[in-house]
Amino acid sequence: MSLLSRIKPKGPNGFGYGSTAADVTEGIDLKGRTILITGCNSGIGLESARTLGARGAHVIGAARSLGKAGEALAGLKDSTPVTCELSEPDSVRACVKAVKALGRPLDVILCNAGIMALPKLEQRHGVDLQLFTNHIGHFILVTGLLDSLSDAGRIVIVSSEAHKNAPSEGIDFDDLSGEKRYSAWRNYGQSKLANILFARELAKRLKGTSKVANALHPGVIQTNLARHMNVAARVGVAIANPLFLKTIPEGAATQCYLAAHPDAAAVSGEYFSDCNVARTSPQGRDMAQAARLWETSEAIAARV
Ligand SMILES: NC(=O)c1ccc[n+]([C@@H]2O[C@H](COP(=O)([O-])OP(=O)(O)OC[C@H]3O[C@@H](n4cnc5c(N)ncnc54)[C@H](OP(=O)(O)O)[C@@H]3O)[C@@H](O)[C@H]2O)c1
Repeated sequence: MSLLSRIKPKGPNGFGYGSTAADVTEGIDLKGRTILITGCNSGIGLESARTLGARGAHVIGAARSLGKAGEALAGLKDSTPVTCELSEPDSVRACVKAVKALGRPLDVILCNAGIMALPKLEQRHGVDLQLFTNHIGHFILVTGLLDSLSDAGRIVIVSSEAHKNAPSEGIDFDDLSGEKRYSAWRNYGQSKLANILFARELAKRLKGTSKVANALHPGVIQTNLARHMNVAARVGVAIANPLFLKTIPEGAATQCYLAAHPDAAAVSGEYFSDCNVARTSPQGRDMAQAARLWETSEAIAARV
């Protein structure tokens, strides 16, 4: 527990910065529920898989290879490993097929996997790799599985406060390839803004059903996510860790709250931080942009 975890007050629902995944799921029986988690083999995805599995859920854990997924889920009683390389549409579609073949309605799709701050522009299918991995891959996965979502299914999309580093106009629709104006943090921010807009548009489209979609910021946590940062920045993170950063169990709390807590069942189209509703940038509330992103993502998905 960091210094900040000790001193930050709890939010309106009694949970907050220092709450852990175990705290927010305490006493919740997830037996009979099925939860798909991307990026189940590392960081807060691994912690979420372990916690939600320990509460009784059947965890379908997706990782870039079956070996990684299998290893991550090894300690869980009731789980299924699947392969999902989010930057490869064929792999994502094969994952959709494999999940459907299990014949289990999905109670939660937890879009957790992500990459951060690639120092140089990399692309997949003509799109900036950060945007492709963090948003387009999840867009193909979620839209492919929408008809497998249970009646009260929840879609939980892991974004970041770093969405505030996105371009001031929001998604740069004229430069989705990143070729005109790439920078590591701007483009990471854009991909995380896309996560929020995707959740908001999904929530809008699910209105009138009991299905919900929300996005979240997990906090700042020392995980493998920092692998692309330079040495000085990583040393800075390590120094800040005991003072300001969340532990991995704290970092997994907000997504586990949204995946499992009864109080989150009827909340949709929101952005959460520290297990409570939080405010995004104005761009993160721009529903015209959310609609445009959906159409653009559909067009990309149709050609890749
Ligand atoms: N840590 C933080 O401070 C922080 C802050 C804000 C938001 N977040 C968000 O939290 C989420 C989880 O991050 P983390 O901190 O737990 O990082 P992490 O330990 O690096 O875990 C990221 C996971 O995503 C997977 N992944 C990466 N690229 C992928 C791809 N192309 N296809 C499929 N899976 C892929 C990784 O698989 P491999 O292990 O095989 O690479 C890993 O399982 C991310 O969405 C991140 O943006 C984290």
